[in-house]
Amino acid sequence: MSEPQSKTQIDNGNDNDGGPSNEALLLAACHAGNAQQVEELVAQGAEIFVTDETGRTALHFAAASGDVDTIKLVLKSGIPWNTLDVGNYTAGDYAETGGHEEAYEELVQAGVRAEMVLRMFSKDTSDGKAVNEDYLTQPVEYSGDRLVDAEKNGVMMSWETPLMELHAKVICSKPDSVVLNVGFGMGIIDSALQDLRPGRHVIVEAHPDVYRHMCQEGWDAKPNVHILFGRWQDKLDEIRALGPYDGIFFDTFGEFYKELDDFHKAIFATGLGSSSDTSTPPAPILRQPGGIYSFFNGLGGDHKLFHDVYCRIVRADLRNLGIETQYSQVSSDVVMEEETWKGIKRPYWMIKTYNLPTCEWAADASGQ
Ligand SMILES: C[S@@+](CC[C@H](N)C(=O)[O-])C[C@H]1O[C@@H](n2cnc3c(N)ncnc32)[C@H](O)[C@@H]1O
Repeated sequence: MSEPQSKTQIDNGNDNDGGPSNEALLLAACHAGNAQQVEELVAQGAEIFVTDETGRTALHFAAASGDVDTIKLVLKSGIPWNTLDVGNYTAGDYAETGGHEEAYEELVQAGVRAEMVLRMFSKDTSDGKAVNEDYLTQPVEYSGDRLVDAEKNGVMMSWETPLMELHAKVICSKPDSVVLNVGFGMGIIDSALQDLRPGRHVIVEAHPDVYRHMCQEGWDAKPNVHILFGRWQDKLDEIRALGPYDGIFFDTFGEFYKELDDFHKAIFATGLGSSSDTSTPPAPILRQPGGIYSFFNGLGGDHKLFHDVYCRIVRADLRNLGIETQYSQVSSDVVMEEETWKGIKRPYWMIKTYNLPTCEWAADASGQ
């Protein structure tokens, strides 16, 4: 991604008498970080939803100025926090390019607030169907350094290998650990886990082609490996029966934040899942205390601002389940090279730094 232009000229947008229009004045006031003038222009009827010729909104200009009051005002006037210009840049990109940390933080907080409100009003429209049913019922193909679906979306790619190796070390810190991995893909994390000599290694995989590939590669014959073929949502009893786990990793495909959140509720809460014995609430699937959880953190992976908002949201949601999350920053520079994505329909990670999550029971979580 090239850098957004943060200080380019604003088109005067002359009105009929030759002077700049109210809208051009409004964008210029945002660009100057002049909150008072922005307020006056809006009161005089200037249209806040104006964009310039490159699709930049009042929020992009306010972010480029770095002035937090102007940003707040523009957000309050209705410009969405996640608006994009023609170059696909967020307001956050403009704030970052200008080195405006406070302004960037304001945008992240606005994003968290907006997403939290949105979630209160969103309904479950799934009808009980798997959200990734199309993916699970169409063929996938292993081709060299990647696994792709029928539409050439990257299901898994080998550029992630260093990340998967780190995730494996996080969830399997000592030999003989009991570990669970949800989503086999190319088996990169599973190979890394095997190198760390777990005592029991459970793998859940839902796609029939992936499952066939695993068996061809001999994963079903490894003495410490248990494969559960099916969606994790349908395998909770078996997952639980093979636990509790010292380490759990989650990385599926074609699922969304809701599924990740559902998984968290299943593995961290007691008394959830589909266990038939309700007389004593079952212990959490992640060993308590001491268990470590991690997940592929590709949330909002095409824009840094969106990603940073989702890192906050997932951390808050996990905290409500008694889990503390730490992010370690790992370079993922390789995704900026065009070659990495050649032949792939849409890059799914476009950020130079990967936030690798380590999630552990909080000291005040029940059971400790
Ligand atoms: C991104 S890949 C996992 C890559 C893996 N971490 C690795 O190191 O190679 C995602 C995998 O999750 C599987 N999957 C998708 N939905 C699933 C579900 N609900 N339950 C279990 N597996 C699922 C996909 O078929 C795919 O193999």
